[in-house]
Amino acid sequence: MPNHRFLKALLRQPVDKTPVWIMRQAGRYLPEYLETRKRAGSFLNLCKTPELACEVTIQPLARFELDAAILFSDILTIPDAMGLGLHFVEGEGPRFKNPVQTIAAIKNIGIPDPEDELKYVCDAVRVIRHELNDTVPLIGFSGSPWTLATYMVEGGPSKTFSTIKKMLYAEPQALHLLLGKLADSVTQYLNAQIAAGVQAVQIFDSWGGILSHQAYQDFSLTYMKKIIQGLTREIDGKRVPVILFTKGGGQWLEAIADSGCDAVGLDWTVDIANAKERIGDKVALQGNLDPAVLFASPEVVKQEAQRIIRSFNDNTGHVFNLGHGIDKSTNPDNVKVLVDAVHEYAARRTNAF
Ligand code: CP3
Repeated sequence: MPNHRFLKALLRQPVDKTPVWIMRQAGRYLPEYLETRKRAGSFLNLCKTPELACEVTIQPLARFELDAAILFSDILTIPDAMGLGLHFVEGEGPRFKNPVQTIAAIKNIGIPDPEDELKYVCDAVRVIRHELNDTVPLIGFSGSPWTLATYMVEGGPSKTFSTIKKMLYAEPQALHLLLGKLADSVTQYLNAQIAAGVQAVQIFDSWGGILSHQAYQDFSLTYMKKIIQGLTREIDGKRVPVILFTKGGGQWLEAIADSGCDAVGLDWTVDIANAKERIGDKVALQGNLDPAVLFASPEVVKQEAQRIIRSFNDNTGHVFNLGHGIDKSTNPDNVKVLVDAVHEYAARRTNAF
């Protein structure tokens, strides 16, 4: 029996229990992931070898009763395909050999063909769909233009974002040119993932929350709206839901819910009951357990999961998740406690609705 609880909840149709998946569910907290990465030689090789990307996509599903799989890849595949020279420095994260800091460099950027430079991603989708054999849906994803631009302009992760913020205020037209190209690339990339078989997509706006109120609208949300307008929303008669996740976006939930997305991802700082009151009649909500809860005892994990389900208090429109990616030092046993607790508690409560 295919499990489509995740897709149903995103479309706000009734479900028997709250579906759950976990951002970064495949990754370094799993010993089997570390073993496959070692065999691949590097994280990027792992992303670029469809059979291995498929293997690690499936690993968390073998351990936990998750209601969705997420394509194993990275948001930085697009800037990599644009020729920025992506590499990963152990312990420090991603770095670009050729950051993009001038209007001339931005003008030089081309839009990658997803079935050419990014064909390995589409191939991974096809291999994973075949392997999943319709047990659970597959999620595709991309970074938001703003979030991708932060890495491209800063040359890697940043604490202050001073280079891109300087560009935003001193040379806004240069940044708009970059964001426009990224929006076109992301649209084509997500549509290629959808054509290859992903059944829902999530846009990760990991750094939208560092922007001022006005700058968020102008430099992040506008471009995500443009992407959503250009996406294939239905394939073979089935809706392809779009989840929009802005970390730190709690104060803009109404505007995010008006973007045309089907679901809004919440970080852990938001009260989900309040978010439901504000926007829950328009879109589904995804989230929002603090990933740090998983460092506590199984009892605390269960209590905190139950608190969120009770707060949401409905048998549709909620996809349980963390409020951001799982930490690499998490004990996998606690992830099992969490996933089982969500299902058990939600199933018990369903009878009460
Ligand atoms: O959710 C999943 O399981 C799918 C896989 C996935 C990865 N990255 C794998 C990964 C997804 C959805 C991402 C998204 C991503 N990548 C984001 C947005 C989500 C977020 O966390 O806000 C961002 C900002 C990136 C960029 C990126 N990639 C960074 C900053 C890093 C280093 C992170 C760190 O903790 O060191 C990566 C590397 C990365 N992406 C890893 C994984 C499993 C670790 C690589 C390794 O094995 O060493």
